[in-house]
Amino acid sequence: MSGKRYTIRMVELKDIPVVMDINRKCLPENYTESFFIQHYKKFPKAFLVAEVDGKVVGYIMCRVEHGFSNFKFALTKKGHVISIAVLPEYRRIGIGYNLMIKGMEALKEYGATEVYLEVRVSNYPAIHLYEKLNYTIVNRIHGYYADGEDAYVMARQL
Ligand SMILES: CC(C)(COP(=O)(O)OP(=O)(O)OC[C@H]1O[C@@H](n2cnc3c(N)ncnc32)[C@H](O)[C@@H]1OP(=O)(O)O)[C@@H](O)C(=O)NCCC(=O)NCCS
Repeated sequence: MSGKRYTIRMVELKDIPVVMDINRKCLPENYTESFFIQHYKKFPKAFLVAEVDGKVVGYIMCRVEHGFSNFKFALTKKGHVISIAVLPEYRRIGIGYNLMIKGMEALKEYGATEVYLEVRVSNYPAIHLYEKLNYTIVNRIHGYYADGEDAYVMARQL
């Protein structure tokens, strides 16, 4: 896949079925159509897709929450990366990294001062991606996933 050119843009309503398809192919954590549409309506700048030759091959969906900071004892606006995936044939060419960069820029525009996400403790590709982006592990949630696997909570300041 190296050499393939991709573009990143905001999601449109027509992309939601394709995004759901990528989500089902890439992750065991799947969501209803209304869950995706809700995020598209509320945080459109932080819901992005990557396209290669006019085909959507990856996405990131984020939101902003109010809650306790992962870095100081205070309430804050936190960005939350809900889901990110790239189709297997289009991996390792920088799409995931750039979806994260652009997603974080959007979260900052919405006023978030930090960002966090959950990741399976066995998901080395994703953990490496987040470490490359200067995320650190701030917590481990036992039995977070439906099959009983633990999650790392990873976070960084924006
Ligand atoms: C995680 C995922 C989104 C990465 O997407 P990607 O487009 O392949 O990522 P990139 O090409 O931008 O890679 C950026 C960095 O991530 C890390 N990385 C990505 N894939 C990796 C792998 N298989 N092994 C080790 N590190 C990996 C590397 O540090 C890489 O930088 P490098 O290529 O300079 O070494 C993709 O593997 C995926 O869709 N996985 C399935 C869904 C998933 O697990 N989502 C995350 C849920 S929390």
